[in-house]
Amino acid sequence: MPKKPLIIIPPKNQIAPSEITSESTYLNRRQLMTSLLGGALIGGPLISHAAPSQLTDENPGGPAWLKEKLLAAKPAQPTSESITPYNHVTQYNNFYEFGTAKTDPAKTAHRLKPDPWRVSINGAVDKPGQYFLDDLLKGIDFEERIYRLRCVEAWSMVIPWVGFSLSEILKKAQPNSSAKYVAFTTLLDKEQMPEQGNRLSTINWPYQEGLRIDEAMHPLCILAVGLYGKVLPNQNGAPLRLVVPWKYGFKSIKSIVAITLMEKQPITSWNVLAPKEYGFFANVNPQVDHPRWSQAKERRLPNSLLKPNIVPTQIYNGYGEEVASLYGSLDLKKHF
Ligand code: MTE
Repeated sequence: MPKKPLIIIPPKNQIAPSEITSESTYLNRRQLMTSLLGGALIGGPLISHAAPSQLTDENPGGPAWLKEKLLAAKPAQPTSESITPYNHVTQYNNFYEFGTAKTDPAKTAHRLKPDPWRVSINGAVDKPGQYFLDDLLKGIDFEERIYRLRCVEAWSMVIPWVGFSLSEILKKAQPNSSAKYVAFTTLLDKEQMPEQGNRLSTINWPYQEGLRIDEAMHPLCILAVGLYGKVLPNQNGAPLRLVVPWKYGFKSIKSIVAITLMEKQPITSWNVLAPKEYGFFANVNPQVDHPRWSQAKERRLPNSLLKPNIVPTQIYNGYGEEVASLYGSLDLKKHF
């Protein structure tokens, strides 16, 4: 995260136009698939989310069980918003375990081995356990969710995730009455995540995040396993990452290995590092500025010098109707 705001404008020629899956191509593809199936769930090995030419260079590897489940994901409702092209979503990343430059994760995250992957669910639950990801996801149907992602650094994207509500996994573990918060932990392994071995790194690894239990149980809060209908690329947090669309992006922790139900508010990485700058709640709020820059507007990717694409930031990132009731009369300036 920034010691100063990392507002980096990518050079115009950074991504070849031929590599970009445009919003219209993607939506046409989705529409075609939906109409082919009369709007029913998409299924069957013959139906692909990607045109054949894209499968070789764009489609990340991944276990067969996951690809099969991704193909069966329920499509999202159409959106009028422009979806951020695939190559921007996967080449402009914050994943500090792989470096601090936006382009580092796409270059070095191939060191991460997302399969097989173990996840433990523990703490204040009646059914704790450690699972291989395929076992954990048995019986859980995937769906597509197109969400805005608003980074605290004042840039944003619109991303078609594939995943499922976090509540489905939490319910399986049966939280008990002392479960007031949920803590999430990223893999700790400096062989796979080279920056964890960098003694100059300011983050106390592993990356940790947390939510209040009611936030975690909210239907908009998802665990993502894919994007653009494909297996989640490593740089986006494979194989399992949180997506909380009404909060700043740093809450959406990547490559999760542990989910811990707790009575007390958990420690979170950025809050520990700079408590005056990054709060526990981190709800998107144009009226509460970061101490070093305004949060009133955001730079919607892709953009360029000629087309800066600055748009106003919305309270709760535009999801206020769904989530504002979680916060009642909470003083959002104090609990930023
Ligand atoms: N999770 C881990 N483990 N490590 C990180 O550095 N960065 C966060 C969040 N999750 C981060 C993380 C930040 S600051 C943002 S904005 C989002 O991931 C970016 O997600 P994206 O790269 O998929 O756009």
